[in-house]
Amino acid sequence: VPFDHNDHYHRLLLRQAPRNCKAALDVGCGTGRFARRLAGLGAEVDAIDPSARVIAQARDLAGDAPGPRFRQADLSTVQLPQGHYDFISCLASIHHTPFDTVTALRAALAPGGVLVILGCHREHGPVDLAWSLAAVPVNMAARLSVAAAERLRPAGPGTRSGTKPPVKAPAMRLPEIRAEAANLLPGCRIRRLLFWRYLLVFRNNSVA
Ligand SMILES: C[S@@+](CC[C@H](N)C(=O)[O-])C[C@H]1O[C@@H](n2cnc3c(N)ncnc32)[C@H](O)[C@@H]1O
Repeated sequence: VPFDHNDHYHRLLLRQAPRNCKAALDVGCGTGRFARRLAGLGAEVDAIDPSARVIAQARDLAGDAPGPRFRQADLSTVQLPQGHYDFISCLASIHHTPFDTVTALRAALAPGGVLVILGCHREHGPVDLAWSLAAVPVNMAARLSVAAAERLRPAGPGTRSGTKPPVKAPAMRLPEIRAEAANLLPGCRIRRLLFWRYLLVFRNNSVA
């Protein structure tokens, strides 16, 4: 059923982009749906993912139209330009690397630039369980309504891919992420989202 928790939050993430966003980076881009939406804002978008398979699919889906520069690269080892990006996004990908790789992303932000992480966390304890139970019926309703909408109006060619990006179970709990983020990204805001995700927003307030 074509309801995707990451895609569901695209609009929320795009709203965090600064005005006049000229250069953006999407980390762990998968088959590139978010990167293509970012490019639609008029930004020059670099999109990286270590999986050759999903990068090939992302390039196929983008076709010849001007769009993101898709590159096979691993966040743990890639050299990013310092102080360059107005917007950096990581959708369900930061837990594939040690959390402290966010320092490389922080260094790559231009003054005033914004880092957004749509993150996954390990569930543990009654609070997580309560959120999870609340999400289940909403998730079911959303899946049914998206399936019904797609039946009435099928997605056009080139909008979806059969290629599934690699997934990994998150190891860190939300309180651990909050503690590390407070240290590495001072002033960042983190909030829990309904569909087993959190949103982290960090603005680089350093002056050029
Ligand atoms: C759950 S998928 C999410 C894909 C995409 N962001 C989306 O919203 O559909 C996680 C992605 O992170 C990528 N990934 C895994 N390890 C990575 C790393 N070291 N650096 C960057 N991306 C990585 C995977 O290849 C995969 O495409």
